[in-house]
Amino acid sequence: MISDDILIEKAIEAQGKAMAPYSNYPVGAALLTNNDNIIIGFNIESKAYPTTLCAERVAIFSALSLGHKNFKSIAVVTNDGGMPCGSCRQIIHEFAGDIKIIITDKEKKNQIKTKTKDILPHPFG
Ligand code: THU
Repeated sequence: MISDDILIEKAIEAQGKAMAPYSNYPVGAALLTNNDNIIIGFNIESKAYPTTLCAERVAIFSALSLGHKNFKSIAVVTNDGGMPCGSCRQIIHEFAGDIKIIITDKEKKNQIKTKTKDILPHPFG
């Protein structure tokens, strides 16, 4: 059993690996599979800015590429507790479904626990 706190700690570790030299806005994600594997992601910024990838999508695409298909929850950590962007909400919806989403700043002061359907109502697809 992996607790939300453990998942948050993994997301904080992932945030420390973020490659965000242009925005200076490091984001870490930790995705929990149904088998209790934790797959991390962090934002990876490109010199050609729009080709940047967000932490949540790196975690999900990485998990899918490793063969994981079912997920329980994802923790997302930023410096200020920022919410996942629209593109990441869509990808969470499409590939992980209505999972628990834990959003927090790295000091764990501003924690939000929500679900995909609550942050992406009336989704496409
Ligand atoms: N970013 C994420 O990693 N996840 C989000 O949900 C929103 C934004 C990244 C993209 C970029 O590297 C930086 O945060 C600033 O937008």
